[in-house]
Amino acid sequence: MSNRFHRLEKKAASCRLCPCLADQPAVLSSTNGSLNANIVFVAEAPGRFGAGRTGVPFQGDRSGDNFEILLKHIGLTRSEVFITNAVLCNPLADGNNRRPNAKEIKNCSAFLKETLSIISPRVVVTLGTVALNALNLILGTRFQLNQKVAQPLATANFMLFPLYHPSPRVTNWKRPLTQQKKDFKKIPPSRRRQ
Ligand code: URA
Repeated sequence: MSNRFHRLEKKAASCRLCPCLADQPAVLSSTNGSLNANIVFVAEAPGRFGAGRTGVPFQGDRSGDNFEILLKHIGLTRSEVFITNAVLCNPLADGNNRRPNAKEIKNCSAFLKETLSIISPRVVVTLGTVALNALNLILGTRFQLNQKVAQPLATANFMLFPLYHPSPRVTNWKRPLTQQKKDFKKIPPSRRRQ
């Protein structure tokens, strides 16, 4: 593992910037995927039954099940990609998942920026509005998901590819899994570096 990533992992583990998230572990470790990945997926935040419990992004909940279906659909495995979140800790309200707020996204953006700088992927796929907004914050852009979905957007260091989030809330009401499978197929080609 790179020393830089190890330092970042330790910094995230001891971060207490967000008062409401101080008791939640940061989900950032070698289990997020490959540091040699050409493609990084950025989602919203660890979920209560998923990464918040298992310590692995998109593992253990229904969003994770859908994500794994989509990843398999395009012939990729977790070990070929890197998966992280706009906010590294699980935001809760009355014991239930809640959306991270703007302050939490801003507080965590330095971790996302450094993660992307370390991995230096060719493609960054954002999953949902929160993830796209986190990238907007880093890039100084104002991309909107409904206008840019499944469109490759050139940025200085990587291709940005905004997609919808795979949570059941989204697949049931906004973007069915069948459509998301088509969206995933449009992700620009990106295999692990040798
Ligand atoms: N699990 C994650 O890691 N991220 C999400 O956005 C949802 C579930």
